[in-house]
Amino acid sequence: MTENLQNTGILIAPSLLSADFMNLSHDVQMIEKGFPDWLHVDVMDGHFVPNLTIGPPVIKALKAITDIPLDIHLMIDNPSYQLDWYIEAGADSITVHIECFGQTSHIANTPGTSLSINSISDPDLLAEVIVRIHTAGRKAGLALNPDTPVELALPWIDQIDLVLLMSVHPGFGGQSFIHSTVEKIATVSKAAAANAPGLLIEVDGGINASTAALAVEAGANILVAGNAIFAESDPLTAMADIRAAATSLGN
Ligand code: DX5
Ligand code: ZN
Repeated sequence: MTENLQNTGILIAPSLLSADFMNLSHDVQMIEKGFPDWLHVDVMDGHFVPNLTIGPPVIKALKAITDIPLDIHLMIDNPSYQLDWYIEAGADSITVHIECFGQTSHIANTPGTSLSINSISDPDLLAEVIVRIHTAGRKAGLALNPDTPVELALPWIDQIDLVLLMSVHPGFGGQSFIHSTVEKIATVSKAAAANAPGLLIEVDGGINASTAALAVEAGANILVAGNAIFAESDPLTAMADIRAAATSLGN
């Protein structure tokens, strides 16, 4: 996957969750005119999160109509069972949730909440998943829900390409940014500077021009935005505004 950093170091990844599912091809072609770096695709299984979205056939169809890298965010239980489906469908990056590798006591069936863990109980399985993604030549990501301590990701950062920090409880677009995420971004950024200089830090949920600036200031370099782009009457201007807000910092 080539990075189109547009000389800024910041990648913008519009989330197709907020696109028109009846006209995905139209929305992809429309948003391509604003040069998104990646397209973020949310896969939900109705169990890991209280919503159900799309799966491999739609990703395969997307792959056939766009050259923009597809950033697949798997909000599903047991991602190792289905990994090959997403590799074969054409995912460029595959992000799995760390909560799938620890003990959770319930299923996430209430909007506005999400699963969290305090330790990883199956590190061998997580390591295997990362290797399988890399062996297929794709980028491997590790996502954390808002209530999972960020420290759990740190031992993995030199083995993966990206950490995705959820800044809302996953499942739905259009929620408000959880501000405590900023501190988590800074923690990962500091650890990456010491141990994983190439690590990408992706922030997902409630990103608009103002929260984008907060996230980037803390060290994020991939911004996922759904509603703040696709729910606007002029999505291309909205995306450009997010990019401008994010890249005005430090340049
Ligand atoms: C939420 C998804 C996000 C979602 C973000 O579970 O992971 O990618 O599309 O939507 P916004 O940007 O509207 O918060
Ligand atoms: Zn997402």
